Amino acid sequence: MTDKTSNTMWGGRFAAGPDAIMEAINASIGFDQRLAAQDIAGSRAHAAMLGATGILTDTDVEAIREGLLTVLSEIEGGHFAFSTALEDIHMNVESRLKEIIGEPAGRLHTGRSRNDQVATDFKLWVRDQFDAAETGLLALIHALLGQAEAGADWVMPGFTHLQVAQPVTWGHHMMAYVEMFGRDLSRVRDARARMNTSPLGAAALAGTSFPIDRHMTAKALGFDTPAANSLDAVSDRDFALDFLSVASISAMHLSRFAEELVIWSSAQFRFVTLSDRFSTGSSIMPQKKNPDAAELIRAKVGRIFGANVSLMMVMKGLPLTYSKDMQEDKEQVFDAADSWMLAMAAMEGMVKDMTANRESLAAAAATGFSTATDLADWLVRVLGMPFRDAHHVTGTLVALAESKGCDLPDLSLEDMQNVHAKITGDVFDVLGVQNSVRSRMSYGGTAPEQVRTQIKLWKDALS
Ligand code: ARG
Repeated sequence: MTDKTSNTMWGGRFAAGPDAIMEAINASIGFDQRLAAQDIAGSRAHAAMLGATGILTDTDVEAIREGLLTVLSEIEGGHFAFSTALEDIHMNVESRLKEIIGEPAGRLHTGRSRNDQVATDFKLWVRDQFDAAETGLLALIHALLGQAEAGADWVMPGFTHLQVAQPVTWGHHMMAYVEMFGRDLSRVRDARARMNTSPLGAAALAGTSFPIDRHMTAKALGFDTPAANSLDAVSDRDFALDFLSVASISAMHLSRFAEELVIWSSAQFRFVTLSDRFSTGSSIMPQKKNPDAAELIRAKVGRIFGANVSLMMVMKGLPLTYSKDMQEDKEQVFDAADSWMLAMAAMEGMVKDMTANRESLAAAAATGFSTATDLADWLVRVLGMPFRDAHHVTGTLVALAESKGCDLPDLSLEDMQNVHAKITGDVFDVLGVQNSVRSRMSYGGTAPEQVRTQIKLWKDALS
């Protein structure tokens, strides 16, 4: 007989129960209860397979099936008493199953271990998150396409070093983020396809002597195949790391856009107005409307990166196969997934609601000598000047405008000819920002026509 206080799931060789501190450090039920639905799905697939292969009787399998459904409804209904003494979700579910159906519950663990069980549960959970991320990214991309379509020809300053560089179009800027989130989408799809193998049936580490059918359980759980090596199957957490690294890159993209929205919505820029629905006020300054959602998105990236680094550190140097260290895989992934999904949804909401201030964008586009490159290009194209010389002449004209406190188009033809005699009045055509963006017709350039081509390509690809 086992001592009353030792674990009923593994207490056979134990004379005493764990110290309270041992229980506290060992238990994962506080967080892995999030895997309840996956745990029960895995157990149902395993039980059905044990029946189909004749390892368990149909009567036992039916009792297990019914019992697991009851456990699931108790958990989903919020009236399941999770016990820390039972360590984790796997033993909590099995123990409750035993209370409900009695002896057959003890047969469920035939030919499996918590090691393949937890790997299976966690994979199923992470797979759902890849699917949720795909949905979130698609929604965000559609919101950006909407903005791009509306403002394919609205001019705004393009920046390098956060200094005005050349005029670009609003649509082009929105489409830059479509490209980024589009790559995130493709990374999500790659990683999901790569991770979709079933650990179930790898058992503790070596496989099992029972005539199980791993193809059957893999199929029942929507996996493409069983994982090929039982040692790898129980010790692999690459899928979680793939998830965190894809999430990190995507969160980095979100944070860059969030930063732009913070800047753009400031009184100094006024490029966009964020909706009331996605802004907050100040408790002391009545005039304030703050871009809190954007700031929080910018910040969320920190914890997502942190999760990625943290799990890498947990896994680094672990010998094969399962080590309890790996129990530390879940909280990081849960938190990163929650943060990423929320950040994507908040960004989608902000993008859908925000209004670009066309006049401010256009006015800013014309400042900072933004068409200086157009002037240099004109000197090359029309006067046949080598680009380096054209660069120098244009620089001289910029300095002249600066000294006069005006912009390039405000210089007189005489001013220009004093710097270079062959300049003609035609040059003023290229100094306007509209003409500037319209001229950038190279593939992937900022011309509205190019932007509309890219919008169409994306829409076709997504439909
Ligand atoms: N709670 C454990 C985890 O999350 C489940 C696997 C435990 N396996 C074991 N051999 N102790 O990793």
